[in-house]
Amino acid sequence: MDIYVDSANLNEIYQAKELGLADGVTTNPTLIAKENGNFEEILKNICSEVTGPVHAEVLSLDSDGIVKEGRELAKIADNIVIKIPMLHDGLKAVRILNAEGIKTNVTLVFSAGQAILAAKAGATYVCPFLGRLDDICHDGLELLSSIRTIFVNNPDLECQIIAASIRTPAHVVELASMGVDILTVPSKLLTQLEKHPLTDLGIEQFCKDAEKFKNL
Ligand code: E4P
Repeated sequence: MDIYVDSANLNEIYQAKELGLADGVTTNPTLIAKENGNFEEILKNICSEVTGPVHAEVLSLDSDGIVKEGRELAKIADNIVIKIPMLHDGLKAVRILNAEGIKTNVTLVFSAGQAILAAKAGATYVCPFLGRLDDICHDGLELLSSIRTIFVNNPDLECQIIAASIRTPAHVVELASMGVDILTVPSKLLTQLEKHPLTDLGIEQFCKDAEKFKNL
């Protein structure tokens, strides 16, 4: 199981990397807009920080524009993956870029049907958004489970699942139990996973008790 950092912030990526939690990085226009600097420069810096895949999203919505942008973004570094929104034109672009050996990620996937189409078009990755489904009272984990079953039962669909829009530690544990290929996790959530009040209490107690023999 790979864990990616869902961030465009170099400091957050570096901190995750120190713990072996940066097998890759996912960005999107919203995450990049939070950072200072030029779009390409931000991506170039991230690509030199991690060896794994760095997912960069296109802004065009028509197939010609997506292909053109995808080719340009792919020149930034060898580890760039082109993130393409789940659209009719997006799927056309995935086929073209895939034929050229450029890796793609079909993003904003909210149904198993969309995941099947993305995989058939030749997407390297498909990116279902759990949290945004939960936000509208649907079951994001159920979608992940359904896509995983489809891909396991149809090995000809050579597409990896990146579980995205992960909001809670419980999501991470459930997805890991399910055996999802990749989880992309915001850095705030990595910190939440690290913490437990009983760990803090235990450390506090051990430090207090150690005072009794420290100066003997
Ligand atoms: C990652 O690839 C997605 O863009 C990201 O996980 C979306 O997360 P959000 O729904 O919290 O914005």
